Order: sequence, then structure tokens, then C-alpha cells
Amino acid sequence: KTERTLGMIKPDAVPKMGQILDLIYSKGFMITRLKMCQLNRNEAFQFYQEHQGKPFLDALLNFVTRGPVIAFEIMGESVIQKWRDLLGPTDSAQARQDAPNSIRSRFGKDKTENACHGSDSTASAIRELEFFFPSSGPSRQNTAK
Ligand code: CMP
Repeated sequence: KTERTLGMIKPDAVPKMGQILDLIYSKGFMITRLKMCQLNRNEAFQFYQEHQGKPFLDALLNFVTRGPVIAFEIMGESVIQKWRDLLGPTDSAQARQDAPNSIRSRFGKDKTENACHGSDSTASAIRELEFFFPSSGPSRQNTAK
């Protein structure tokens, strides 16, 4: 079924945004909204609320607030899973072993600095899209219906 999901280029990979967006388009994904922004710590904590209490949370918040991120909506058939497949495993080192053509394999460094994010479920996608692209915000310019 047609889905929407939230993708995010993390601060480590923003300098490689051109290559990453090229790869995304070459795989046939359709980006329907996109913006660059700088998250403060409260915003990052809100975005990653499901990781409250995890040992890596502090490192994750430091990392994701150290520079701008690029958030985008991807729309298409089964894109929640397809986008996660293109990302590869969370740990970039493992991605290089198990999914050598994945984004994390090619552009990530390790478990934390792993280049990009993708929503892991329909519920996360809805929450994360609303976080970056609130429905009260500017009207959609590219609904690509
Ligand atoms: P992401 O897909 O954005 O979801 C949560 C993020 O936390 C993850 O990518 C990594 O950046 C980070 N992360 C997840 N697991 C670990 C871990 N074991 N150690 C360090 N960072 C992690």
C-alpha cells in the first residue's frame, strides 16, 4: 500500500547529502517534502523519546544536535520497509558486512554516526513526520499525488 515515512540525514552525513539524495532517487524513491534544520537538545529528546533510558541516549543527543540535519518525507508503495532496507543495519560496521550497498555501509561510521534515520513503523512514521512537518505548518507544495 502507499505509505509515507520520515527519512533524516544526520549531521555526520550532511556534507554527503548530494550523493545520498542521488542514491535515493536512483532507487526510485519519491521525496515529497524536505527541509534542513538544527535540532536543539529538547527537540532531539522529543524526537528520540522512545530511546529514553537507553545507555546510548546521551551520545545520540550530542551527536544529532552537533550540526544541521535534513529531514524528508518519502512516499510510495511499502516505503517504510523499503527505506529501512536501503539504510541497512543500525551499526555501519555491520552494514558493511551484511548490506554493502546500503546507505549506512557507504556513508555511516559506526553505531551512533550512521548517516541516516528511518521510521521503524507506521505509528513512528506518523509521529516523526508530524514532528518535522506539522500539519499546522505551511501548506504542502509537492503532494506528488
Ligand atoms: P536511528 O535509526 O536514528 O535510531 C536511534 C539511533 O540511536 C540509531 O539510529 C543510532 O544513531 C543510535 N544508536 C542505536 N543503537 C545504538 C547503540 N547500541 N550504540 C550507540 N548508538 C546507538
